[in-house]
Amino acid sequence: MNIQGKTALVTGASRGIGRAIALELAQNGVKRLLLLARDEHRLAEVAIEIEAFGVEVITLALDLTHVVEVNIALAKAWRDHGPIHLLVNCAGVAHQSPFLQSHLSQVQEEININLVGMYTVTRLVARRMAAQREGRIVNVSSLMGKVAAPTMATYSATKFAILGFTQALRGELAAYNIRVMALLPSLTDTDMVRELQWFRWVVPMTPEKVAQVLVAGLRRESPEILVGWQSHLAVWCNRIAPMLLEKILLIAAPGSNNRQKRYQLLKNARALS
Ligand SMILES: NC(=O)c1ccc[n+]([C@@H]2O[C@H](COP(=O)([O-])OP(=O)(O)OC[C@H]3O[C@@H](n4cnc5c(N)ncnc54)[C@H](OP(=O)(O)O)[C@@H]3O)[C@@H](O)[C@H]2O)c1
Repeated sequence: MNIQGKTALVTGASRGIGRAIALELAQNGVKRLLLLARDEHRLAEVAIEIEAFGVEVITLALDLTHVVEVNIALAKAWRDHGPIHLLVNCAGVAHQSPFLQSHLSQVQEEININLVGMYTVTRLVARRMAAQREGRIVNVSSLMGKVAAPTMATYSATKFAILGFTQALRGELAAYNIRVMALLPSLTDTDMVRELQWFRWVVPMTPEKVAQVLVAGLRRESPEILVGWQSHLAVWCNRIAPMLLEKILLIAAPGSNNRQKRYQLLKNARALS
């Protein structure tokens, strides 16, 4: 996709990866950016940074869990500032917890924002893109959408689901000249992960790097854009030696003083099945 002169909508644009993507798109020649998140002050700060590149910015202070409000605001935004050529669904939340101590409220929040929020925005925008027979949609999944890991069960589940959603839409919307792709960052240094316990050996990358890889992937129209060598290695390892990777993840996962015992239990469970 050539993003020069195009209009893009980025959700989760107030900080982290979404903010970096918005800035990278601005530096690469988009004409207009619609930025969506809840925090209007942060959005205004990002808007000022972006306007310095001569890009028109519209901020949409919305909570993706308020479905009716989001639908009304986006329909109006399309009418006043559309057509939107590129949608980047980046807003998301992550909760980390050993599964046995997990809370339903946090699971519901992950599902509501990561999945239902993405669905709500995509449905409204994709219908209008289909009418004009042009569009690109990027759904931000994660390396954890390919390789699930202990303590991140429900977050991983939402990110796996996003890959399924993306693959299905890719087939369905191709007839309308809408390409649908997934971005799969690995650990990235943002607010999201500052509260989390990190997995051993994983080196975080910057949100700016993720944004650069996305823009390069957009040019190539890659259906799945993996970010960084660690992601490529993990996906490759999962394909050719999944049991080995499962073992490594168990050792690397945070919060276990008894990794060896857990691995033995896993092996026993496999032997029984
Ligand atoms: N950081 C990582 O290691 C990593 C790795 C792989 C994938 N990802 C994915 O990348 C995406 C961005 O993550 P990040 O690391 O940049 O996280 P972040 O720094 O915590 O930013 C999350 C963004 O989502 C927005 N958001 C959260 N809840 C929202 C809601 N209810 N309505 C509207 N906007 C909402 C936040 O804005 P407000 O608070 O202003 O609403 C913020 O802009 C997520 O989908 C995440 O799963 C992150």
